[in-house]
Amino acid sequence: MSNRASGRPSPLCVVGAGYVGLVTAVCLAESGIEVRLLDIDPDRLGMLREGRSPIHEPMLDELLVRALESGSLILCDDMRTAVKGAQIVMLAVGTPPLADYRADLSQVRSALAEAVATADYGTVMVVKSTVPPGTTSHLRTLCRRNGHTFPLAMCPEFLSEGTAIKDFNHPPVVVVGGDDREACERVARLFEYLNAPLLITDSTSAELVKYGVNSFLALKISFINEMAHLCELTGADIESVAQGIGSDPRIGRAFLGAGLGFGGSCFPKDVRALDQAASYHGHSFGLLRAAVEVNAQQRTRFVAKVQKALRGTVAGKRIAVLGLAFKPGTDDMRQAPSIDVIRHLEDFGAKVLATDPVARTAAARVLPLTPMVADPYECVRGADAVVIVTEWPEYRNLDWDRVAQLVRRHVVIDGRNCLDADKLAAAGFTYISIGRPPHRAAAKNGASAKSANGTNAAAALIAESLVGDAR
Ligand code: UGA
Repeated sequence: MSNRASGRPSPLCVVGAGYVGLVTAVCLAESGIEVRLLDIDPDRLGMLREGRSPIHEPMLDELLVRALESGSLILCDDMRTAVKGAQIVMLAVGTPPLADYRADLSQVRSALAEAVATADYGTVMVVKSTVPPGTTSHLRTLCRRNGHTFPLAMCPEFLSEGTAIKDFNHPPVVVVGGDDREACERVARLFEYLNAPLLITDSTSAELVKYGVNSFLALKISFINEMAHLCELTGADIESVAQGIGSDPRIGRAFLGAGLGFGGSCFPKDVRALDQAASYHGHSFGLLRAAVEVNAQQRTRFVAKVQKALRGTVAGKRIAVLGLAFKPGTDDMRQAPSIDVIRHLEDFGAKVLATDPVARTAAARVLPLTPMVADPYECVRGADAVVIVTEWPEYRNLDWDRVAQLVRRHVVIDGRNCLDADKLAAAGFTYISIGRPPHRAAAKNGASAKSANGTNAAAALIAESLVGDAR
């Protein structure tokens, strides 16, 4: 059976209502095919039934409600109902890292075992989860050994948190890998309405495309962060350097944003998993380990920068941390740089007060001893330094003159190079960022801006010493 109007395969069963499964199911339901979304977590299903997404993702709630109301999305808690008559079963379950960073495939294996035990003959089983090279091929062999002859394909996803719906609707490429051409084409037909370029290949290549994209982007980030360090040592400006390098169309400007480096549930996990897969096959992929090492260093270097800005110690100082989520547009705290930065600052005796527009609840679970407030102006009151960890637009657009009246010292350390250096200096701040010479506080009417509780003479001194260091 297929979607009569378009010839697209329908119904589709998606196993796993996590980030990838939920976005995929909702978007494909919106495109007009029937989608059954299966999850074993009753709380998650309960929220979804009420039209509430368990993850913070722009547009997702609206699309979810629409798909549920139109009947194109059906929520299921039982495999038998979910796969009945399905043309395709898409496995979108988690592949979290094991202690040695290999991907844990237990959820993929058990979901597949359950699906093949009940699906109709000829149903295409699609691995949507991020899995190491060779996984789909091994799963195919295991299924055949157990008498299940379902076609198996691999179809990686490239959604970024915060822009997932847009990313889904405008993919740079649709990749489908497998050894059964007809099955791959059936999977590709699901996405044909998106008019994206199509790459049909073998499943191991498809798996490596996924790891390759994430690892290459992580390498770009670590490369630009190393360049930023060199800029600090030579007095150059990383923003100009990145603009110049990124202008070469062979390189591109994306993911050359210097700062606190990469976090989230994907890059840190996938770079390490690819390294592990390479080792398993006898190859030492040193480039990947270097990217991870540079990424870790970015966080410790940043804390050292904050220490230096406060005359060598943060002990007893009030630090306002703006931004907790691993990036703007999400409440995801997995591998967020804020965790390391705050823990280090607190270990050195700093009194941290943090804020984030959406991630405070998630952050409180990993940073239970760190006080948090909703209002950034409340956060900066009395602060000895304001530290930007996540580049939320809210922070870019703060009234920095007002902030200047609230802080104790006029020092801003921007871990994401997202603020306007001139604006900050005009508001009386010493502005320290990544890979750029510090900006001194500008004199206002011949005198420096005054804080509520003191002067910014100390900040001017800091700027002086940091400018000296950068030369
Ligand atoms: C990433 C990929 O971009 C997606 O294509 C992929 O589908 C997804 O992983 C996944 O595998 O599921 P995501 O983790 O949502 O998406 O986040 P990104 O926007 O890629 O950012 C990752 C990290 O890199 C963030 O911490 C961000 O702050 C950092 N970053 C990004 C930089 O430090 N500099 C940059 O220039 C860009």
